[in-house]
Amino acid sequence: MTTAVLDVYLTEADGHAELRLDARSGLTAIPKALPPKWFYDAAGSEIYERITELPEYYPFNAEREILRARAGQIAAASEAEALVELGSGSSEKTRLLLDALAAQGTLRGYLPLDVSETALREATSALAADYPQLHVHGIVGDFTRHLARIPSQGKRLLAFLGGTIGNLLPPDRAVFLRSARATLGKGEQLLIGVGLVIDPAVMVPAYDDAKGVTAEFNRNVLRVLNRELGANFDPEAFDHVAQWNSEREWIEMRLRARRRMTVHVAELGLDVPFAEGEELRTETSAKFRLGGIRNELAGAGFELTEWWTDSYNRFALALATAL
Ligand code: SAH
Ligand code: AVI
Repeated sequence: MTTAVLDVYLTEADGHAELRLDARSGLTAIPKALPPKWFYDAAGSEIYERITELPEYYPFNAEREILRARAGQIAAASEAEALVELGSGSSEKTRLLLDALAAQGTLRGYLPLDVSETALREATSALAADYPQLHVHGIVGDFTRHLARIPSQGKRLLAFLGGTIGNLLPPDRAVFLRSARATLGKGEQLLIGVGLVIDPAVMVPAYDDAKGVTAEFNRNVLRVLNRELGANFDPEAFDHVAQWNSEREWIEMRLRARRRMTVHVAELGLDVPFAEGEELRTETSAKFRLGGIRNELAGAGFELTEWWTDSYNRFALALATAL
């Protein structure tokens, strides 16, 4: 039986130390904020999968529609021997790319990188079974830190799907794009999925669904803090908030305290006071326009070569070449 290789660049101890730092600085900041990567423990990754099945969460289906239509063109343009994917999660949509690259006959390896070890293990073992000719090499790592360590296996296509690039704040996005450029050789390609700026009446419900699945995803970060740092958050004491920020052009998710309370974080020896109505920012999900993406890519040493949107113009795939 074919098995997948799994490298761990991010050990549990590293992750724990980093969570301590993020929690201390984020919970003592004004306003309070935490980076979104802490959503994705095993439970959070599963809740995200449920989000992708919600009628309101259009990004998933929109990106899949584009991949179905364009995977052949992407394969032909990249001539990739290795597909490297950042924040790969379940790698569900990636199968469309793998099929097109395999049909073309160039593909030898698939290297998904994700912070979620459970999601990565499940995805890589399923893919190794379904694609026996493919060398599947998973990497437990952080795409803001570990790009330079991804092994090189011939001509590469670097994919960053789902709109996850929008979860990086603009300065971090610029650093990320420069490090993606430094990872690739001249002529290699970057494929990024981005949500587009559209009507807030469509965007907001995608982050505030009727069944409350996104609210559970949001509250999951408090469960992670309780388990990992011995905190005593009562997740039900926080309301889920999702708002469109028209100036920054991002959706902002926050958790709003329903009452005044003090939360104790045992492992940090920290007491965190919340006023009634005080908010903790947990995620920004930026939405994009063609001109902005082109400029950001150019600033990092990429030329935007293709721009494809879904039939409702809600989501786009950008293919860029390293200059
Ligand atoms: N690409 C998939 C999953 C998107 S969800 C899709 O399009 O549906 C975002 C994924 O990025 C999750 O699997 C999460 O674990 C991962 N992730 C979030 N922050 C990360 C980081 N800093 N480094 C690596 N992976 C990260
Ligand atoms: C992974 N990322 C692109 C998702 C998004 O749309 O920003 C995460 C998510 N947050 C709430 N729903 C989904």
